[in-house]
Amino acid sequence: MRIELPKAVERFGSVRFGELQRVFELDSGLANGANASREQPIRQVPYEELSEIHKRTAIVVPIKGERLKLVEGVLCGIPHPCLIIMVSNSPTRPVDRFHLEADVLRDFCTFTGKHALLVHQKDPILTTAFEQAGYKEILNRQGRIRDGKAEGMLIGTLLASLAGKDYVGFVDADNYFPGAVEEYIREYAAGFAISRSDYSMVRIAWHSKPKIVESKLFFRKWGRTSSRTNEFLNRLISHYTGFDTEVIKTGNAGEHALTMELANTIGYSAGYSIEPNHLIDLLERFGGVIEPPAKSRIKDQVEVYQIESRNPHLHEAGDQEHIREMSYQALSVVYHSRICPPKLKTELRREAVTRGFIEKGTEPTKPHYFPSLNGIDRDRFRASIESTPYGRMAEEEAESRHRVS
Ligand code: GDD
Ligand code: MG
Repeated sequence: MRIELPKAVERFGSVRFGELQRVFELDSGLANGANASREQPIRQVPYEELSEIHKRTAIVVPIKGERLKLVEGVLCGIPHPCLIIMVSNSPTRPVDRFHLEADVLRDFCTFTGKHALLVHQKDPILTTAFEQAGYKEILNRQGRIRDGKAEGMLIGTLLASLAGKDYVGFVDADNYFPGAVEEYIREYAAGFAISRSDYSMVRIAWHSKPKIVESKLFFRKWGRTSSRTNEFLNRLISHYTGFDTEVIKTGNAGEHALTMELANTIGYSAGYSIEPNHLIDLLERFGGVIEPPAKSRIKDQVEVYQIESRNPHLHEAGDQEHIREMSYQALSVVYHSRICPPKLKTELRREAVTRGFIEKGTEPTKPHYFPSLNGIDRDRFRASIESTPYGRMAEEEAESRHRVS
């Protein structure tokens, strides 16, 4: 891949936000013995380097009742060396969708000679494992694992960490273009190849989202939800730096990846607020405005890369209510940040009233938060899942890594 370095960065305490980066070639060929210079403004990340990073990467696919044809396409777009972890919250009645997903994944693994982990979010063994390992925040009042994409992502991240992976990336299961999935995962690796910190995050900004407008295809760049979320986050940053900024372009980026060190260190929030909360959490934890929790002190800087993909993004369209809910969750997570200044809070409240999210005189609902995964008792968690196929496979992956290194 040939990719530009961020032309400018915004520094906020120990966090470095890179400006949006453009991709010049999806495949820039082999290294052919050439040593890429870190100083060049446009970097060739050779095929071998991407592939080495992919070997150390787990790709988590959260899924809830998606069409199986789409899932097949997504699996086919994941580069072979990556470990696939599918976390499903699909219904098992009246039709057992999870069973069908298992079938698709099994066929895929047979034909490609791959291994993949598959787990259901409501698996009772998994529930007990979280309970035993002291991570009760993921459980609901009935003592089962909560619904939600973020919850699925947390499960996937923990399994990736137990499998000994150094990077974890996410792709949605409802993408129509396998080529776009492949591109995102290459871009994750290119971001990590460029990064200089063990605490890095790569976020994808879609090139465009095709829509039919007046019987013609229109390639729309920014949706309302993402442009508003980006604006709130930028306003939060500029309040502290004293300079207006537009650096954040990926506030809602569902397609993103983290180094395992960072994934284990940061805190999370529920449902679709997880993506904007990644950025809020970095600002709170490493921004130097408020005292960070003891366990999250790090020597390195945190690096955030934002890469503009080349493929258009086409996925199952959510209805208006779903999109409104996503906007509301993003607004709430900024509103409830411990570093959100009173003036921004007032504006967010006003916006929430205008858009009909809340009644006048009330506050946006506080999101549900999850502590960092560093606090989990991993030995207990591992012991609880060792009898399951996914527990055994995570163990085997971790062992094979030891054999290689
Ligand atoms: N495991 C699990 N559990 N997966 C879930 C759940 C759940 O409770 N709910 C949804 N998913 C899966 C879906 O099947 C899909 O693969 C993925 O999570 C994203 O969910 P969608 O419902 O398709 O989200 P979206 O398309 O509206 O929004 C996507 O893009 C946004 C940016 O525009 C998501 O990736 C958002 O997180 C992102 O902010
Ligand atoms: Mg979707």
